[in-house]
Amino acid sequence: MKTKKSGARYSAIVGIGEKLKQLSIETGREYLALNRGVPAVTLIDISEVVPLLDFNSGELQIYPQNNGILKLREAVNKKYFGNKSSADNIFITHGGMGTIDMVVDTLDVEEILIPKFYWGAYRNIMTMRNVVHDFYENYEFLDQNIDKLQNKAVIICDPSNPLGNKYDDAKLMQLIKKLDSAGVIILFDGPYRKLFIQGEDLFYQDLAALPNVIIMESFSKSIGLSGQRLGFMHTNDKEFAEEFNIRLLYVTNGVNAFAQLLVHALLTTKEGKEAADEFRRITIEGMNRNIEYLRKNGFLAEEFYQDSTPVGIFTIVNRSEEELLEYRIGSVGLPFFTSTAKDEAKAYSRICIASDPDKIEKFFNRMK
Ligand SMILES: Cc1ncc(COP(=O)(O)O)c(C=O)c1O
Repeated sequence: MKTKKSGARYSAIVGIGEKLKQLSIETGREYLALNRGVPAVTLIDISEVVPLLDFNSGELQIYPQNNGILKLREAVNKKYFGNKSSADNIFITHGGMGTIDMVVDTLDVEEILIPKFYWGAYRNIMTMRNVVHDFYENYEFLDQNIDKLQNKAVIICDPSNPLGNKYDDAKLMQLIKKLDSAGVIILFDGPYRKLFIQGEDLFYQDLAALPNVIIMESFSKSIGLSGQRLGFMHTNDKEFAEEFNIRLLYVTNGVNAFAQLLVHALLTTKEGKEAADEFRRITIEGMNRNIEYLRKNGFLAEEFYQDSTPVGIFTIVNRSEEELLEYRIGSVGLPFFTSTAKDEAKAYSRICIASDPDKIEKFFNRMK
């Protein structure tokens, strides 16, 4: 069959998972899969939340509103933006990946800049969509080159995949405001943020008020529902919003109503908030224990956390993917996450620290 080849590559991370399974079968020994990108300290317990959903309702059974069920968009406005934005600026989507795809395909810019260490999907999506892209070294580079960024967009991912670091909100906001007022488009990809930040979120409130910022969010990580494929996009730009809404119709024909109502219940009901809080509490406790352990035992690659804080759900360790595999630890080599610094990255790999701390200690102790 004649096929349009996009040039995008299938995720190497999935391939590593398959290799680990195979090795485990062949050797009969346990492998610790830290290559994946989901919070796996615990699952979210939604048993008290599901009974609150009315399955015999049109709301759940029939096509939802194209831009998302209104009460969910209102709940997002309240929870993420302190009611300072509007439900009209929020578009419920089929997850973060789909949002990024639609955003980069809809945006009319000369070029999109990706961080030096980046989530591989950015590059593959842009390759697939024929979007011109390049890489930026760090935030100082953006700060010092604002005049060269006219008609361009930059992706900011904080906390970062793959580094798992979080920049100071105030410093990051200073840079974003400078870029925004110079007319540079900021694509803020923050699916890990709400795992850590609860209560009033002044950073997101400020971000949502800026005209050149597009926020791309997801419920995959912050409430552990990657299986539900749900996220949202926020923009103040009416022209962009209008085109995005048209495309959303022909891409999704409305996003799964069950997932929307489930997330709505998690954001708004007592039972839902408790379930989400408990999920985050256990996840963060596990990650903090893992960071402390890796740090104390010299495995954490401190050089990546000089002007930022390691928070998760990933961290960089100072061992290569091959070295870790000798100790039956699955990881993703850092070279996989960069196009411009492969040599520098050779000695490191990314592990998911949102994983069972007892297991991490057991497997890494063998390497000491
Ligand atoms: C940085 C980043 N953005 C967005 C996503 C998208 O997640 P999802 O498509 O599950 O919403 C991921 C998933 O791993 C990610 O790491």
